[in-house]
Amino acid sequence: MFRIAIDGPGGAGKSTIAKLVADRYGLDYVDTGAMYRAIALKTVRAGIDQSDVAAIEKMLETTDIDFNGTSILLDGEDVSTLIRTQEVSMAASNVSKIGCVREVVSNLSRSMAESKDLVMDGRDIGTNVIKDAELKIFLTASAEVRAKRRYDQLIEAGKEADYDTILREIEERDYQDTHRELNPLAQAEDAVYLDTSDMNIDEVVAAISEMIDSKERN
Ligand code: DC
Repeated sequence: MFRIAIDGPGGAGKSTIAKLVADRYGLDYVDTGAMYRAIALKTVRAGIDQSDVAAIEKMLETTDIDFNGTSILLDGEDVSTLIRTQEVSMAASNVSKIGCVREVVSNLSRSMAESKDLVMDGRDIGTNVIKDAELKIFLTASAEVRAKRRYDQLIEAGKEADYDTILREIEERDYQDTHRELNPLAQAEDAVYLDTSDMNIDEVVAAISEMIDSKERN
């Protein structure tokens, strides 16, 4: 088995990097954050308060989540683009505190990792979902660099953006994701720490490829 777990804070470039690495090595890719986001989107649409655990538990009884490698399906609907808003980012961080939500996403993620080689990214992959992953990476960058990257992306897409607001939202989500009770964002003891603040995408992919190649040689 060759399973790569990539954890780290929001906006560190995990999904971009994970996808490129998966393509390069012919591995499947699973974005666990997208599953939390899909559940969060459903609460937003239904007007369910993200602190209403009973209502969310009930909602989950009739919720079907699937990730097919590129798209995230919520009850059969492709919501890949709809989950990428700032509102859903914070809502996903909110619902990810809830035990029954974590159980649904963790079980689904674990079953995907059972039988195939893959790259999986999230917050608790190395510490919880695939504790025995062959390679664990903790991918991070300073909050300022992550905010600047996000700001540049939005401006490039012709959207409005305010750097200070983006930075505040990033710090808020970092705090919430690292301070929650259940499986908070943390570096696994056996994970490689990779700070990408001063690296471009190609350099990060090259660094991870080197780790993979050296594992394969051993
Ligand atoms: O990686 P992302 O930004 O798409 O994740 C959205 C939220 O989902 C994140 O703020 C916390 C939660 N999450 C989690 O708790 N555990 C994971 N393995 C992945 C995401």
